[in-house]
Amino acid sequence: MEKYVIRGGKKLSGEVVISGAKNAVVAILAASILSDEPCVIENIPNISDVTIILQILAEMGANVRMVNKTTVEIDPTTLKNVPVPYEKAKLMRASSYFLGTLLGRFCEAHVSMPGGCNLGDRPIDQHLKCFAALGASYTIEGGMVNLTAERLVGNQIFFDKNSVGATINAIMAASKADGLTIIENAAKEPHVVDLANFLNSMGADILGAGTDVIKIRGVKRLHGTTYCVIPDQIEAGTFMAVAAATKSDILIKNVIPKHLEPITRKLVKIGVKVEQFDDAVRVVGGDDYVGTTVKTQPHPGFPTDMQPQMAAVLTCAKGASMVTESIFDNRFRYVDELRRMGANISVEGRVAVIEGVDRLKGAPVKATDLRAGAALIVAALGAEGTTEIYDIFHVERGYENMELKLRGLGADICKVDEPDPAEAEKPLRKAL
Ligand code: UD1
Repeated sequence: MEKYVIRGGKKLSGEVVISGAKNAVVAILAASILSDEPCVIENIPNISDVTIILQILAEMGANVRMVNKTTVEIDPTTLKNVPVPYEKAKLMRASSYFLGTLLGRFCEAHVSMPGGCNLGDRPIDQHLKCFAALGASYTIEGGMVNLTAERLVGNQIFFDKNSVGATINAIMAASKADGLTIIENAAKEPHVVDLANFLNSMGADILGAGTDVIKIRGVKRLHGTTYCVIPDQIEAGTFMAVAAATKSDILIKNVIPKHLEPITRKLVKIGVKVEQFDDAVRVVGGDDYVGTTVKTQPHPGFPTDMQPQMAAVLTCAKGASMVTESIFDNRFRYVDELRRMGANISVEGRVAVIEGVDRLKGAPVKATDLRAGAALIVAALGAEGTTEIYDIFHVERGYENMELKLRGLGADICKVDEPDPAEAEKPLRKAL
């Protein structure tokens, strides 16, 4: 069982390079099977979510070859329509993308209900609505979602709920449907745009990604491509939060500053300095911050995936802050952990009220999900004393070499492998 041990309170400095975007790459890797030829995908991060998607692709018969550490070639010409089993699908939400891509390729898909972070209820009704609109029928049996269609036909799809995953699935399936599909109330996140750019580079005809209305004219075949994934908005935002919490001066390289603007605006509002360059941001933390209000919204609003990290920064801002989570109904599971470090936070439904304290103090804590883990790292680096963060496998789903990147900035963090106490007790229990 691995944990991070962080001795906080150190000022950091220097440069950090941001990796490819997790949420873009998982969609792009899944979409590669829509191609009739090999695809080369560059700037892929070394995170466990990517490993799982590549394993699923290999198990389906695709030829997956790492060209170098950040580039993979996927040859889907030998692909078979193999069901995506529970053991893989439970690990990540993005396994649902195989519904759209297998349907687009074989007019049939069998995928176990997707897992991912436990952020509350995560239905797939909008995904099913879009597949049905394109002519597929579905059943859910024994935890498997089964889709079949004689052929896919373009249609008008209005999403009742703004959903990243359903928008991406709709774009992927509609790219191979006959005729025109118009998606209304589409998600506008940077990874939706990146996925559309990837498919267009393969010969798809997708217009309007990044706006509320996306038009897709289906094509018979998609060809191979070489495509470079965008940098990770949330990894960059997390390092911005690290600079703020540790009152440090950090240059964050390989970013798209436009994607960071909702985060930049909030940090500047509380008293952090942010300087933008073409593909980098410099973040300079201050001595005192003022509390503020944060409300998560679909892009270009404040991203829900930065809500825990921002809350960690606000634990030491002067006065009260109010953080409202409007995307997920259970995204405050990290609050109990921050309280263990001395944060003063109360939660009522989807609103957290934070009363700033002078300083957090190190404590043993547990990452309850991916971004919760990131928030604890932010808090621990700014805190006095030592923090041990358990269940860091959540963090490794979405952050490449987190501890190495932080050590490069001068942080006192190490990853320690220690026996799981529950495992250690097993022989003892047997002997008793
Ligand atoms: C994606 C991101 C995740 C991010 C989230 C919101 C990936 C792999 N994951 O997740 O990191 O936190 O967007 O930006 O890109 N909903 C429904 N019915 C549906 C689908 C969604 O009601 O069929 C609801 C969800 O419960 C949630 C909201 O819509 O309340 C947004 O979810 P969605 O945008 O679909 O998130 P994901 O695609 O799962």
